[in-house]
Amino acid sequence: MADKKRFTSSRKLDHLRICAEEAVESGDAGFGDVRLVHNALPECDMRTINLSTRFLGHTLSSPLFISAMTGGHPGTKDANARLARIAERFGLGMGVGSQRAALENPALAETFSVVRDEAPHAFLVANLGAVQLRDHGTAWAEEAIGMIGANAIAIHLNFLQEAIQPEGDHNATGCLAAVTDLCAEIKTPVIIKETGCGISREVARQCWSAGAAAIDIGGWGGTSWAAVESFRANRKDAEGRALKTLGEDFAGWGIPTVVSLAEVAGTGSPVIASGGIRSGIDMAKCLALGADLCGMALPLLKPALESDEALACRVETIHRELAASMFLCGAARIRDMRRARLLITGRTRQMMDDGNPA
Ligand code: FNR
Repeated sequence: MADKKRFTSSRKLDHLRICAEEAVESGDAGFGDVRLVHNALPECDMRTINLSTRFLGHTLSSPLFISAMTGGHPGTKDANARLARIAERFGLGMGVGSQRAALENPALAETFSVVRDEAPHAFLVANLGAVQLRDHGTAWAEEAIGMIGANAIAIHLNFLQEAIQPEGDHNATGCLAAVTDLCAEIKTPVIIKETGCGISREVARQCWSAGAAAIDIGGWGGTSWAAVESFRANRKDAEGRALKTLGEDFAGWGIPTVVSLAEVAGTGSPVIASGGIRSGIDMAKCLALGADLCGMALPLLKPALESDEALACRVETIHRELAASMFLCGAARIRDMRRARLLITGRTRQMMDDGNPA
């Protein structure tokens, strides 16, 4: 057990290092196939564009959400602290990485609780895997929430990663029932979140029926856990080589973010779009497709490992791109983006049409 705990923790550092240093993105989220229809007469003032929005009863200064990334190893505390300082400074929502390591070993709790210290007013989202929820029940979710004074908890679904990880959990039975129990037993809103393979409309309906307060689609086309695990596999032995190949084989598995977003937004709200969102322009497209918030992980990781200023600069650039996109659509407020017209072409159009037979 002690070894297993150490493993959970050291894996967190591996993930951070691999994501920062290697080419871990794969696929195509679909944004290249989506064009916002330009408004040549926008009749609004770009200086007064208002990026603020509401989510689960909270006011956020923009729909940019810092997606779950880290915590769980002493070497991850500074990155979480920096992300939290920026969340506080800009009034953004933020998720922490899976809190399993700290639930297994409370000495690691400060790598997560630092986010509440640094962001006393931010909308913070706790994080736990569906498998851990099933195995440890509501008590672990409550502990995760308490650890960071969370405003919501994300239960993440990562079965592709589990399938590829040597130490992964290959039994997914009972997770939906565990989520249903959790939603009934706690007052804190529960967000169900994928981690790079997307959520279909069928699964979205199951999530709403289970009592989810929101869905984070975590679509395909951004950070690929198949790629991350393939970098992590130890190539020196036969099993490691087989796992590396498995990771590479599954890099193309998943529902592209744009397609998943359209499917999930058609079933209910609120919805967080994430997976391969790389600019404020991508965010504007997601808002027009029905997203309430837009999560980014990888684009914020490198600046978060560098300095507060590097991270602030990245956020300001994203906000400028979003404001300019909104201006060019004639949208003065976030909710006006819902009315922006989109042209969708290519493979993305085809996948959307195939999923919606006439
Ligand atoms: C993640 N992600 C993630 N998600 C989750 O629910 N729990 C976790 O512990 C982690 N850990 C994590 C570590 C690192 C280093 C990265 C880059 C990402 C997934 C993340 O929240 C998001 O769903 C995907 O990464 C897709 O977004 P991007 O990276 O394509 O913007």
